Amino acid sequence: MAKSRLASRQRRPGARALLLCQPFRPERGFGIFRPSQRSLMDKSALITGGCGFIGSSLAVALARAGWQVTCLDNLSRRGSELILERLREHGCGFVHADIRCPEDLAKVAQRGGVLIECSAEPSVLAGSRGELARGMLANNLVGALNCFELARERGMAVVFFSSSRVYPYDRINALRFEEVATRFELAEASAGVSRQGIDTGFSLEGRRSLYGATKLAGELVLQEYSAQFEVPAVINRCGVVAGPWQLGKVDQGVFTFWLAAHHFQRPLRYLGFGGTGKQVRDLLHVGDLAELVLRQLEHLGELRGEVFNAGGSTVANLSLQETTALCREITGSKVLVEPCLESRPADVVWYLTDNRKAQERFGWTPRRDARAILADTYAWLREHERELARVLGFDS
Ligand SMILES: NC(=O)c1ccc[n+]([C@@H]2O[C@H](COP(=O)([O-])OP(=O)(O)OC[C@H]3O[C@@H](n4cnc5c(N)ncnc54)[C@H](O)[C@@H]3O)[C@@H](O)[C@H]2O)c1
Repeated sequence: MAKSRLASRQRRPGARALLLCQPFRPERGFGIFRPSQRSLMDKSALITGGCGFIGSSLAVALARAGWQVTCLDNLSRRGSELILERLREHGCGFVHADIRCPEDLAKVAQRGGVLIECSAEPSVLAGSRGELARGMLANNLVGALNCFELARERGMAVVFFSSSRVYPYDRINALRFEEVATRFELAEASAGVSRQGIDTGFSLEGRRSLYGATKLAGELVLQEYSAQFEVPAVINRCGVVAGPWQLGKVDQGVFTFWLAAHHFQRPLRYLGFGGTGKQVRDLLHVGDLAELVLRQLEHLGELRGEVFNAGGSTVANLSLQETTALCREITGSKVLVEPCLESRPADVVWYLTDNRKAQERFGWTPRRDARAILADTYAWLREHERELARVLGFDS
């Protein structure tokens, strides 16, 4: 009953926004369940967006490492309610709340420990249509500020998930690339960029999309909170993160989407950059990201808003053409992939993450290569085929 009421709210965006900004009442929705007490009391984490891909994966990793974890989510991402059962199985608590509403956040019981901010509209396209911009700003900017404020009031440290989208797209596309058989490759190193990828010293001058702007603004505010109010904080600028439990769409979670399209036999398109599918992204397994966060948590007391890049780098990266070939191999299925010259706003031709700063500071480097990441994601997709066909929109 509670589920269908929520689902019907989600079909009426205007009405939903109003309802979500009213104080949350447990009897009205999915409610609150408390974390199991088996975890250590001094290691407590509140994960906002904890029913999303990264949030829930971190919740499970932290719970396994003996943390007491509470996930907070408004369940706005299609399918995020599927993740509730997984959280419960791992002894994580849950609070149904909205980060845009300080009244909702006030219901969180936690004091001390860490707040891991993973609740956002994570698609770069979300803010590219004028009518959606305000909603994205409310989530990613106002929502993040509310989380930082909660952390300040309650004496919590903060881990913030930013994005490689803070790096200006015009600057990246203006680098010199060489077109080889299946991909574009960087032809020349310059300030902040080498064959290892883009590092945190890359210039931030230029346009980055509204989504990228919300992330950079969040970083700057968190650094001020850290400096002025002594909130321990760390910022991770992630490239594409991939792996099981990502409910991928074409504009976000491209590797799950590509695998799912092969599995469910749907045609695909190579968008932009000549329609050849030679644009390149690195991909980081969410388990490797969790490993980085666990290492950062050991040093949080010392961190004051430092920024790290986190991505698959030279260990795991693919062009779309190469992704198609790998998907064919892994799924055993072949689909039509058509060229399309139309390009997407703020898209980049190439992005690899230079992780060396995180490597030096935390001794961390990604372990899984592209084949391992796609194979792992596909095993999960097969296991949850029926629910995923509906959630990913492949059931019609
Ligand atoms: N996945 C990636 O490749 C990637 C890359 C770079 C940065 N990031 C960042 O990492 C974070 C997590 O991304 P993800 O891929 O897990 O996204 P996701 O969409 O899977 O998860 C986001 C979660 O936040 C929740 N949420 C959204 N608005 C909310 C609100 N107002 N109140 C409470 N909950 C809300 C959603 O219901 C969802 O469960 C985001 O900040 C994103 O920008 C992700």
